[in-house]
Amino acid sequence: MANKKRILTGDRPTGNLHLGHLVGSHLNRVKLQDEYDTYILLADVQALTDNFDDPEKVRDGVFQVLQDSLAVGIDPEKSTIFLQSAVPQIAELTVFYSNLVTISRLERNPTVKDETKQKAKFKDSMPLGFLMYPVSQAADITVVKGELVPVGEDQLPHIEQTREIVRKFNSIYGHVFPEPKALVGGVARLVGLDGNAKMSKSLWNCIYLKDSREEVRQKVMRMYTDPNRIHPTDHGKVEGNPVFIYHDAFNKNKGEVEDLKKRYETGKVGDVEVKEKLINALNIFLDPIRERRSKYDAKKLLMEILSEGTKKALKTAEETMKEVREAMKIVKLV
Ligand code: TRP
Repeated sequence: MANKKRILTGDRPTGNLHLGHLVGSHLNRVKLQDEYDTYILLADVQALTDNFDDPEKVRDGVFQVLQDSLAVGIDPEKSTIFLQSAVPQIAELTVFYSNLVTISRLERNPTVKDETKQKAKFKDSMPLGFLMYPVSQAADITVVKGELVPVGEDQLPHIEQTREIVRKFNSIYGHVFPEPKALVGGVARLVGLDGNAKMSKSLWNCIYLKDSREEVRQKVMRMYTDPNRIHPTDHGKVEGNPVFIYHDAFNKNKGEVEDLKKRYETGKVGDVEVKEKLINALNIFLDPIRERRSKYDAKKLLMEILSEGTKKALKTAEETMKEVREAMKIVKLV
């Protein structure tokens, strides 16, 4: 494994994964785990920055995201899955990094700004922890010397912040860290079922990996299409239409998708047929995930996988921190 490049990526464990997570980053992770030394973080400390008043949600989220990740195809034999809170070196590195970032720089982070808008409670009283979570994310990535970070598009400002911190650290204390690069999935951002810009669990517009066939059917049947198309004979709009965005992302039968699009635009197909075919495509996509998911249903097994991964991550993190403390001239006691 010595000459494999290293990946670090992760999730805030606040609930089950949905299709948006998959196309943004998780499918990439599964593909990349053969080629790269992959570390996957369950960022429970970061999840607490905006859920400090709901600790049960974060605790349960750890097992939900873990089970979903394994269901998608993350293989614990190939990838190291670990728990952020159990690696205190991340907290230590975050404190060191906080000297290298200004408050005004953090306030300009567009993703933090977006999230603040969605959380009315933070608008006039931003907790320090939330403002600086991008700093701790830089520590997540670099504590294992991650070089590649497969993420959704919304995470790009954080990777840029990480690169700035790395450059500053290396220039002041000497070269310790590689500058990580982001890798965005094939579909950068999946619209919600309601046509909202983003599939987000807080907006109730998601299809979850764990959804049953019946749930998928109900959700797709309620999906938004072209609002100006009343009758199946009206000429419809394919571009920006959520149902077709999903066909493009998940239907492997490209011929079928092209045929549906053509007929939709010329008023020769009804919404129901377009949706039936989408339901079918989604189930073809989700069935193997459902099957793997059922194999990872036991809490004991999940605990074992997480403990093993965390042990390995702890070792890597402590090796990095030895270098960091030495570079920073931290007094070493005997
Ligand atoms: N911020 C990421 C999210 O909201 C989760 C995350 C935490 C992460 N630490 C990370 C992603 C490090 C990539 C690398 O999903």
